[in-house]
Amino acid sequence: MNLDGSAQDPEKRGHSSVCVGREDDIKKSERMTAVVHDREVVIFYHRGEYHAMDIRCYHSGGPLHLGDIEDFDGRPCIVCPWHKYKITLATGESLYQSINPKDPSAKPKWCSKGIKQRIHTVTVDNGNIYVTLSNEPFKCDSDFYATGDFKVIKSSS
Ligand code: FES
Repeated sequence: MNLDGSAQDPEKRGHSSVCVGREDDIKKSERMTAVVHDREVVIFYHRGEYHAMDIRCYHSGGPLHLGDIEDFDGRPCIVCPWHKYKITLATGESLYQSINPKDPSAKPKWCSKGIKQRIHTVTVDNGNIYVTLSNEPFKCDSDFYATGDFKVIKSSS
């Protein structure tokens, strides 16, 4: 039972795990897309770890499955191909560099805008990959592009 009332949220239904493919396949391609309970997600295999998130970038709905993965501040991020926002694979935080205008000699610092992209859980069982949608009750910016008119995009991976 949830004290925050989220149990009544219609989006809460169907959060059972869904098989999205085989481990052998994602290890070759290092990414795959899937529709899990009507929500389109991308799954990355990066440095031996699996990460799943909403496929559409929280900023303007860019196709994250077509982005490159790079490290920023020691954290692996997907770089959105549309406007180059950097989203951590592990937490869905959006990173940016900040400069102190009063100290131009200081190096730019990496900062976090907080969690912007919804992250989902990946599990592996007997060579199969399963995704369980996040049921965290907070409002995540990427929810906008994962629901309503934007719900399922016609993507090719
Ligand atoms: Fe992804 Fe703008 S849509 S950075």
